[in-house]
Order: sequence, then C-alpha cells, then structure tokens
Amino acid sequence: MTSVAGKTKFQIDLRQHLRDQNISGNLVHLICEIAEASKYVINAVRTGDLGVAGTSNLYGEEQLALDVLSDRIMRKRLQHSGVVCNIASEEMEQIFQVSSSPQGMFSVAYDPLDGSSLVDVNLAVGTIVGIYQGADLLQPGRKMVGAMYILYGPRVSLVYSVGKGVYEFTMNQLMEYTLTRENIRMEPSGNIYSPGGLRKKYSPENESFIKYLEDKGSKLRYSGGFVPDINQILIKGKGIFMYPALNDSPNGKLRLLFELNPMAFLLEQAGGLATNGEIPILDIVPEGVEDRCPVYIGCREDVEKAGEFLKGAC
Ligand code: AHG
Ligand code: MN
Ligand code: MN
Repeated sequence: MTSVAGKTKFQIDLRQHLRDQNISGNLVHLICEIAEASKYVINAVRTGDLGVAGTSNLYGEEQLALDVLSDRIMRKRLQHSGVVCNIASEEMEQIFQVSSSPQGMFSVAYDPLDGSSLVDVNLAVGTIVGIYQGADLLQPGRKMVGAMYILYGPRVSLVYSVGKGVYEFTMNQLMEYTLTRENIRMEPSGNIYSPGGLRKKYSPENESFIKYLEDKGSKLRYSGGFVPDINQILIKGKGIFMYPALNDSPNGKLRLLFELNPMAFLLEQAGGLATNGEIPILDIVPEGVEDRCPVYIGCREDVEKAGEFLKGAC
C-alpha cells in the first residue's frame, strides 16, 4: 500500500494529488471543478430523461436530452470557474468565449456525455476533457497541459494526466474521488481488440490487421462506448482500440478535439500510442473544431503494427 505523508493511497483525494504534481493553482482548480461537475452528470445519467432533445449538435447529429443537460452542467461549471477563456463542446455549434484575456487561463474541449445512446440500455458512458493553456483550441493535442475522463460505470472513476503520469481515482461513499491507481503503464503488446464501425466497410488492409490480431489470440472486447472501451485497455495495460477509415467515411467517426486528443494524451502518458494509421494523433494540426480522424490507440507495438498493415507492409 503506497503511503504519502502517512496517508494510505486510498485516502489521497484528487485536490491533494494535483497539488503534489507541481502545477499551477489554476489548473488544480480547473480539474477539481470538472470533477465536481461530474457529480451532477452522474445524477443526470442516473435519473434524467432518456428521450431526444429535438435539437442537433455540431455534427448535425440528433441530441438526446442527456447530451444537452450534461453539456449545460459542464459549460456552467467551466464558465464560472474563473480560469477558463474558451470552451468547445461536441454538443455546441461553435467555440464559446468566456473571457477575452487568456493570461493564466485555460481553454477546454470536451464531450460531456460520450456514448449517451447507451444509457437507455444501461451500459457505461463517460465524460472526456482536453485542457489547453491560453485561448487556442486548435493546437495539436501534444500542446495540451492536461486530459481526463470520468467513467460512469458500476463504479465512478476519474482518470487524469497533467503530463506526469496517469492516475485513477474512484468515487467513494462520500462522493469523494480518492486515489486507486498511480503511474498506470501499458504493456508493449496486448490481447484484446475493440474494432469500431461496420466490418463490411473495412478496407482489405484493416481486415488483414483484424485477422492478425485474432491469429495472435486477441479477444474482441467492444461495448460501443469509447470511454469504457479505452478504460478497459488502459487499466489492463493491454489491447488496441480502432475506429478506422470506412469506405463511406474516410475520416472514420471519432472527433479529434473532443475524444481522440484527450485519450491519445492519456495513452501516450501511460507508454502507449495513438495514431490515425500514419502519424500520432497528438501531432495532427486541427483545421476546425469539427475534425474527425481514423484512430488506432492502445499498446505501442499493436498500434505500430496497424500502421504496417495499412502500408501493405504485412
Ligand atoms: P457519442 O455518443 O459522443 O456520439 O460517441 C459515440 C462514439 C463512441 O463512444 C464509440 O466509440 C463510437 O461512437 C461507437 O460507434 P459505432 O456505434 O459506430 O461503433
Ligand atoms: Mn463522443
Ligand atoms: Mn457525446
């Protein structure tokens, strides 16, 4: 049991852990505010209306009432945090400016409720957040100063990194987030795979890569929720998630700012890798907040192998 200043690991709360990361007080405050907001999102998920909102999001996709409610919870919390200048959300049409002075402030890109359509079949869903210093949200993901997700599953867990390793906190009976895993690390190669999208729309190269994974004994694990699917790979330290280019959507489905950059930041911090099949996700320069791209994310060797298959080198 790791102890810090006499405390057992399970008694270290999020704010204290953040303060020990030697980051700015404003960033500590921001991450704690997002953690607080997650408690209201949990309540919305557990009790909220499961119907449609009658509106559509940035991508023209029909929004559920839970998407809109979760987005409002996140946006209000960020807006009043005092440390945020710009906000981008998967559920908002455009960037929301909170303050025009970026000094000491952060910009935040988030998916307030990823996998929202899974709530009505009682599967796990999550909130995904990427944090940038200053006002610019269209920087490559590698410029982020932090990333996190909250997973609303049988237990509620929060995973974050501010560039100094990856840490998991779990919500206790008092709804406090206490440290449950530290310095999470990925194995070089894994034994599970999560293939997104319709297989009949895969390229021959992607099909060959799937066959390679199956032949090496990888088991299929796919819930349809990006956060639980990634969390399983990260916490087990093994596996690869892919949502490739499909024959009718060359950029795949997942969104660069709201889903891929934060998860790529976390996986790289844990010694894994995330690419679009060619270059690291974190090196992609966004053209707009609506950018999507194909993704291969997880164990470094598995992701690199995907790239070889895509080049026809295997
Ligand atoms: P969102 O609910 O924010 O639109 O995201 C859903 C995403 C992601 O959670 C998951 O990996 C992917 O959609 C699943 O897509 P398919 O149903 O096409 O596999
Ligand atoms: Mn999403
Ligand atoms: Mn979403």
